[in-house]
Amino acid sequence: MPEIFINGTSVQAEKNQTVLQAALANGFFIPYFCWHPALSIAGNCRICSVQVEGRSWAEMSCNLPVAEGMRILTDSDAVREQRKATMQFITLNHPVDCGICDKAGECKLQDYHVAYNGTPSISIDPKVTSTKFHALSERILLDNERCILCTRCVRFTREISKSNALGVKKRGDESLLRAAENHPLDDDPYSDNIIDICPVGALLSRSFLYKARVWYLKPTQSVCPGCARGCAVDIWHRKPEWHLRALDPKQNTSIARVTPHGVPGPDGPWICNKGRDLAKIFERPRAEQAMRRGHPVDLDAAIDVARRLIGEAKRPVALVSSWGSNEELAAFRQALGDRFKVFVKRDHVPEPGEPVEDDFLIRADKNPNTAGARALFGADSDREPAFPEDTDLVLVWGEGCNFASLPPRARIVFVNAYLQPENGHADVFLPVSIQTERAGHYTNFDGTLGAFTPCFAKKPTVADAATLFPALVPSLVASP
Ligand code: SF4
Ligand code: SF4
Ligand code: FES
Repeated sequence: MPEIFINGTSVQAEKNQTVLQAALANGFFIPYFCWHPALSIAGNCRICSVQVEGRSWAEMSCNLPVAEGMRILTDSDAVREQRKATMQFITLNHPVDCGICDKAGECKLQDYHVAYNGTPSISIDPKVTSTKFHALSERILLDNERCILCTRCVRFTREISKSNALGVKKRGDESLLRAAENHPLDDDPYSDNIIDICPVGALLSRSFLYKARVWYLKPTQSVCPGCARGCAVDIWHRKPEWHLRALDPKQNTSIARVTPHGVPGPDGPWICNKGRDLAKIFERPRAEQAMRRGHPVDLDAAIDVARRLIGEAKRPVALVSSWGSNEELAAFRQALGDRFKVFVKRDHVPEPGEPVEDDFLIRADKNPNTAGARALFGADSDREPAFPEDTDLVLVWGEGCNFASLPPRARIVFVNAYLQPENGHADVFLPVSIQTERAGHYTNFDGTLGAFTPCFAKKPTVADAATLFPALVPSLVASP
């Protein structure tokens, strides 16, 4: 472990670390644009320069290996002068349109301008203009004037997603980031990660474009339910103290964007584009009304009827949801598990055109908690249901049930969160909350637990499955 000195303080660096890595790992700040812990070193932005004592020139700390006894200055007058010159160069042709830029508030260019430059451009030449709103893909727009050509996005597509979808064409102030002709970014299921890692506001998400200033939003930690990988995500939504009182109130309870949760490191965090589109899953039309054979009834009245039907049933079968949390599944097992023959249902299957599986993150099982359900109900519960001939009641929990395959004479108790025609055909329909309205855990395919917390309040007309199942225990029927 080489000992180096940063601003006079002794630091034990790791062998093979760079000065930038050693400094960041030990609490010293050095700015960087093009360096990223998960990508190869490009060394093209020069903002990370430091001074090695005894040398008269600046060094790029992101590409400088530590050496025993090395003495580094990260914030000397010479270093600050160098960084100011670098910022003047990087912003030479930059439009500085922060007022309309989605990255404002989380942009390294803004932060470093304030920290190291803070003065207007010294150039007397007009700025070189370039393409704005260039469609890099169906999901991503590129503002070439804001691009500082750090090549993080290019390296991501080469080294992480391996789509080789991006490159830089031409030279000098005519340089342009462009999608490679034969490798369109549209085919890269991980493309939106480049929006996160772009250090400036050059890469723009079409779905988030001009939707919200980031300082009005807050992230809530959650788990992507899009497949059995269960990636940790942040769901961004409007802060309660900044709720809108005009415009559509739905904006206060909408998902603004989804990003990976966690600190960038050699393993990411990355998520696939399906994880970015959770609004498409969670913001489908909701079922919020309990029903008795299609007729609206109070939630409590519907629970009473369901409890009675369960109490009368001799051979009930339950199809439990692989989108249920561990807590909800455990509540079902504890309250009703002995009474029902249980099968774990695959609520979702791959959509047409959706990448089914790859050797990076995406898993073929499009449900977040099959492993948690199997752990509670047994490995053979996760198979095509075999209904006993005399099945007289089926409790269906969640989506993905083929109702035509259910025993025709069986009563149906349906527990679901979204509008679908079968809600109205069930003997009893019980609406329940969704993941963004409650806390819980999923167990992913390799046994890792993922936690989620609520972003929004549930409607009073819907139940939480974890409290609903204990209320369906027939022994709770009031005596006459
Ligand atoms: S678009 Fe962003 S990430 Fe890509 S080269 Fe330009 S500044 Fe870097
Ligand atoms: S890999 Fe699976 S869990 Fe991760 S973001 Fe994509 S769909 Fe969601
Ligand atoms: S971060 Fe070192 S040159 Fe860009």
